[in-house]
Amino acid sequence: MVKAPGKTGGAAGGAAGGGAGGGGGASGRGQRELRVRVKTAKGRKLSSTLWLERQLNDPYVLRARKEGYRGRAAYKILELDDKFRFLVPGARVVDLGCAPGGWCQIAVNRVNALGDRSGKKVGTVLGVDLQEVEPIAGAEIHQLDFLAEDADARVKGWLGGRADVVMSDMAAASSGHKGTDHLRIIALCEAAAQFAFDVLEEGGTFVAKVLAGGAEQELQTLLKQNFRKVANVKPPASRADSSEKFVVAQGFRGRGAASAEDAGA
Ligand SMILES: C[S@@+](CC[C@H](N)C(=O)[O-])C[C@H]1O[C@@H](n2cnc3c(N)ncnc32)[C@H](O)[C@@H]1O
Repeated sequence: MVKAPGKTGGAAGGAAGGGAGGGGGASGRGQRELRVRVKTAKGRKLSSTLWLERQLNDPYVLRARKEGYRGRAAYKILELDDKFRFLVPGARVVDLGCAPGGWCQIAVNRVNALGDRSGKKVGTVLGVDLQEVEPIAGAEIHQLDFLAEDADARVKGWLGGRADVVMSDMAAASSGHKGTDHLRIIALCEAAAQFAFDVLEEGGTFVAKVLAGGAEQELQTLLKQNFRKVANVKPPASRADSSEKFVVAQGFRGRGAASAEDAGA
């Protein structure tokens, strides 16, 4: 377990707060017109060269570096929260698949996990990932395979009570096969949703990354049974050429909602 004391100097503090996504930050688009070209180098594959060129020219990558976030993914949750307002001061948040930590950085700031906004409630952020994560001040982070048999029980133990928000950006490494990637991400999303049904406070929010495709219908049905509102969103920070999108399910109906509905059907 890693719980970092004190404050971070950089990102999560100022930038994420009211500013980014709201006031201060630009949208990330159209900030920079000059394109950086990367020459092919001996020993580097064309795909790596193209990836590098895309990174160097991606306004969200540049903005993340400037504002001190650990990756461009931070802007996805920031934009989703700007629209749906679930990361409120005092909220207890679970972040599944949190490495390298951009979503945690945003959550720490927005839920006031460091308590540095006086007069506002103080929230908590609990992150887990397969990979090790550099400590983030205000977040408690554990290395864990969320698909392991005892994962739910372990996360519940660390949480020690209910959560207001369960969010998952979990994605397995790409297999290069679209159908396989889709099924894997849906499996991760379903595991996250089942966990959310167990720990969410009534009225709580579930946010998860999905890849558009056939197997998601069942998941959408399940979410509609358990939440009052379910939206499917592609935030501007999500690359247009990726089939990734996010489900934002709000207004958790409480445990037993789905079974009560089944019984009434
Ligand atoms: C797109 S990244 C998350 C980025 C993160 N939201 C951020 O802002 O930094 C997806 C993460 O899901 C994690 N992941 C994939 N499968 C997982 C599993 N079974 N258990 C835990 N984490 C998993 C990966 O290790 C990876 O770090």
